[in-house]
Amino acid sequence: MAAKKTETKAKKTTKKTTKKDTIKPIEKAKKPEKKKLLFVASEVQPFAVSGGLGEVAGSLPVSLAQKHKLDVRVVLPLYRCIGQPWRKKMKQEKVFQVQLGWRSQYCGIFSLKQHGVTYYFVDNEYYFHRDNLYGYYDDGERFGYFCRAVMDMFHELDYYPDVVHANDWQCALIPIYNMSVYHYGFKSVFTIHNIAYQGQYDLAILGDVFGLDAEAGAYVEYQGCINLMKGAIQCSNLVTTVSPSYAQELKDPFYAECLEKIIQENDYKLRGILNGISTKIYNAQTDPEIAANFTKKDLSGKAIDKRELQKQFQLKEDPDVPIIAIVSRLVYHKGMHLIQGALGRILQENVQIVVLGVGDDYYQDYFRWLHSQYASKVGVNLSFNGSLSHRIYAGADMFLMPSLSEPCGLAQMIASQYGTVPIVRETGGLRDSIHDCSLGEGNGFTFASMEARDLEDAVLRALELYKDKDAWEKLCKYIMGIDFSWRNSASQYMDLYRELIEIA
Ligand code: GLC
Repeated sequence: MAAKKTETKAKKTTKKTTKKDTIKPIEKAKKPEKKKLLFVASEVQPFAVSGGLGEVAGSLPVSLAQKHKLDVRVVLPLYRCIGQPWRKKMKQEKVFQVQLGWRSQYCGIFSLKQHGVTYYFVDNEYYFHRDNLYGYYDDGERFGYFCRAVMDMFHELDYYPDVVHANDWQCALIPIYNMSVYHYGFKSVFTIHNIAYQGQYDLAILGDVFGLDAEAGAYVEYQGCINLMKGAIQCSNLVTTVSPSYAQELKDPFYAECLEKIIQENDYKLRGILNGISTKIYNAQTDPEIAANFTKKDLSGKAIDKRELQKQFQLKEDPDVPIIAIVSRLVYHKGMHLIQGALGRILQENVQIVVLGVGDDYYQDYFRWLHSQYASKVGVNLSFNGSLSHRIYAGADMFLMPSLSEPCGLAQMIASQYGTVPIVRETGGLRDSIHDCSLGEGNGFTFASMEARDLEDAVLRALELYKDKDAWEKLCKYIMGIDFSWRNSASQYMDLYRELIEIA
């Protein structure tokens, strides 16, 4: 009966068909479905962020979605810090059980759409309802669960991405599970944001926690341990890191934290793409966190921001004293010992120093001591304070970043958007984004060695230029105009995905 009806309908249509109608179906033909990209990260701004990874995972997918060529989705854990205002906007997609070794764990998938991107949140209160994002004895199990939940989510939601882009060790199990257990058809990209954190565990938990057998163990085993980052490098189709220079440095034992051989073997799939920054969040003209907005055409607001900064840190309110800012984790590999070695000489000059950050007790104590010795010249705030960091970027004149290694670094690019001149060591992304003023069109001051006296020299050169008001203002205006947005980098990621799949 049903078949007959369809037949009659079909006949009717044939009868009425005209030349015009035959063209119509072609015009109406659906555009081919966009290829699907899933970005997996353990932190994503604005939902949960503790550092550069979260900033990148917050802005890169949005920039990719703006190109309208890919269906872009992002998945992250539903941490406790993701509060009610966000939760109210979420839709529950699915509830299922995830098998992690012998454990069977609850998993809820929630979703939320924003700025052209679909965000998925993996809910499990036992693993993620905690005060911090990381730093727990069972981080391996927590992120093992997260990766397994993401892998199970694909068939639960009937959503099969074409490319899965996993970030850092917390998501390293995604390509590993795919190679050894799931065998989905997607291509995988793994990005190293910092090789210092590899996800290393005792081999004893291979089956018990990660649910991997001895054969899969071969991917992750390294130097007698489980090394998740090593496994991801082996199992991914492409591996990227966050600047071209860091990609080169990773082949060097000084930077590679014992993974240089693995990097060298996989060199053929390694690419370095410099991060961008969100020019919406870091914009001197619109930033709501700062006392006065300004543009490169009119820097008068910056003078107000400087005065406010001096007030806040109880320094002399003097527009002519240059303020050198340090906003950093206060740890050795950020070059704190170089700063310590250079400040004695620098403080003989007419300068003010402003420090914001938390870190090792040793350096915290050092900066407390420095403040006690030079209370009128050195302001110190030992905390992590996003809003204050904006006010420092806006009010300072120079920004110090002498890292021993820096995969990309975002602060040097952010500082320059506020006309604050970066002084950096030539490594990783610092080397790729900041060039010394002595080299024609420079946008900062740089040094190459790991000697405090070379940092000292770079700072003294900056202080010298600062004395020439016109030249300094010209430099401030120039660096404010440099394009550090995601535009360029997102195009490079598109090209990278094109190496793996066809994109219309
Ligand atoms: C890590 C790196 C930093 C980079 C950020 C984003 O935090 O240490 O250099 O900018 O990731 O990729």
